[in-house]
Amino acid sequence: MPFDIRIAGSEVRFPCEPGQNVLDAALKAGIEMPYSCRKGVCGNCAGAVSQGEVDCPQREATPPGQHLYCQCVPRSDLEIVPQAWHRFDPAARKTFTIKVFRNTLAAPDVSVLQLRLPAGQRAKFKAGQYLQVALPDGSRRSYSMANPPHASDMVELHIRHVPGGQFTQIVPGLKAGDTLQVELPFGNFELREESTAPMLCVVGGTGFAPVKSLLDDMAKKGIQRPVTLVWGGRNRDGLYLPAAVERWRKLWPGFTYLPAVEDAADAQALGGFHGRVDDAVRAHAPAALGGHEVYCCGSPVMVAAVRKACIDERGLDPRHFFSDVFVPGPAAT
Ligand code: FES
Repeated sequence: MPFDIRIAGSEVRFPCEPGQNVLDAALKAGIEMPYSCRKGVCGNCAGAVSQGEVDCPQREATPPGQHLYCQCVPRSDLEIVPQAWHRFDPAARKTFTIKVFRNTLAAPDVSVLQLRLPAGQRAKFKAGQYLQVALPDGSRRSYSMANPPHASDMVELHIRHVPGGQFTQIVPGLKAGDTLQVELPFGNFELREESTAPMLCVVGGTGFAPVKSLLDDMAKKGIQRPVTLVWGGRNRDGLYLPAAVERWRKLWPGFTYLPAVEDAADAQALGGFHGRVDDAVRAHAPAALGGHEVYCCGSPVMVAAVRKACIDERGLDPRHFFSDVFVPGPAAT
């Protein structure tokens, strides 16, 4: 028999099957809470359990007194206190067979894949969300849409080639006309449009993709906010889409770009920062980040380092740190 989970301070309740984790049960019921990796790595899904018992492995990302909803399984009925939640319509998620129409090697280990939806169909998503590619063995891979939502007859994915990666090793060979099965949209990394706070976007490698979608969407909607983009990579090749950055630079007088690369000669050639993105934030962001919003995308280690720099060292309100953590391997379904 399923357990009953209530959201504290509301009338909302949803069932959770034995062995199912709290986050999956909520999403299945059309209740979205903050999350990213769904693998116990990013800490985005942390919240309290105010009544009831859970089995929940202690992970490094678990804040004191909280649980990672993507990992914890009820042992009784529960009352939970998520950081935030809202209802969504799970039926709005759609599966498409889409065709490759362009596959560009944007860097030695990054493909920009442009995929066209079937004629007359449109992909509905919010800037910053992601899709899942279904592979023949039934596993899935998650990639953020890099295009803004108004370009809805296609999707653009930025795919880093992971050595030995089941999907990424076939990506460079995909050619126009090849098809993929995708489902979208997923995720709640999105722009807080009601805010006028200055934005600090900190991305590593292909973590650029969802932020590109956010910024192109802002440009389309005429949203004007001060934006600083810190884009990190091993060398200049890893900052693979300078034309997009140049567009924003021309469009917004309040736009600042700081490339951060580990190769000293490339850092000098780019006029950027030599080192990691979190150190670039320490060196160049305002001494206090109160009143800012930070949008951060990349590996778990990189996002954790930027979170520490912004929240622990610069006084950013933790509620204003929004992250999308890229964890290689099969997507949670
Ligand atoms: S730790 Fe739960 S979503 Fe990342």
